[in-house]
Amino acid sequence: MAERIQKVMANAGVASRRASEKMILEGRVKVNGKVTKELGVKVDGNDIIEVDGHLIERENKVYYLLYKPRGVISAAKDDKGRKVVTDYFTQFNERVYPVGRLDYDTSGLLLLTNDGELANKLMHPRYKVNKTYVAKVKGIVQNDELKQLRQGVRLKDGRKSARAKAKILSFDKKNDTSIVSLTIHEGRNHQVKNMLQAVGHPVKKLKRETYGFLTLDGLTSGQYRELTRDEVKALYDLDNKRR
Ligand code: URA
Repeated sequence: MAERIQKVMANAGVASRRASEKMILEGRVKVNGKVTKELGVKVDGNDIIEVDGHLIERENKVYYLLYKPRGVISAAKDDKGRKVVTDYFTQFNERVYPVGRLDYDTSGLLLLTNDGELANKLMHPRYKVNKTYVAKVKGIVQNDELKQLRQGVRLKDGRKSARAKAKILSFDKKNDTSIVSLTIHEGRNHQVKNMLQAVGHPVKKLKRETYGFLTLDGLTSGQYRELTRDEVKALYDLDNKRR
């Protein structure tokens, strides 16, 4: 994606964005061999940028969608030596980080990237990315409980969850369990488990099926794929649209 030079410089660790702008105005920055004193110029991965005659190191931005299995930690390392989500990406040069997290025992869709800007945006509450979870819960979920989930329930921390979409997918009367789909845009710790617990249905199994417009289609547990350029662009654009 094309970005302003000062942003590329800041991302590459040359200097802050403001200080990079000063360097550009001072004529210390070359793009493809030519001094550029304009602050508005955009560059992409093919452009060569030099600062004071030194080529700046730019890490390629990469974006992956992982179908995280249960029993994997959503972090770049674990004190107890358990498997972590970044273990799937060690053969690549770029170091990626998970965008938010899924619990150790939760499976499903997790994004990983080295694009800190996009990751921060997506995790910001203002972004309100819808995420759909499918949960197997103890007990038979009743309609009035669904209504409470939709309207918001009081969680352990005393705060109420935001409006959500909730529906029952199936019941198993013999085993006394239900399968529920819940779509939320918040991302508090253990949020789905806490919401379902709050209406009297402890979660036995949890999977995240969607993240915004992204789904797990075509992947099985433990597999991943790269996002397309259009998908990356659409994630950046989520900011400007209602989801
Ligand atoms: N809500 C949870 O309770 N756990 C997750 O992993 C994700 C959402």
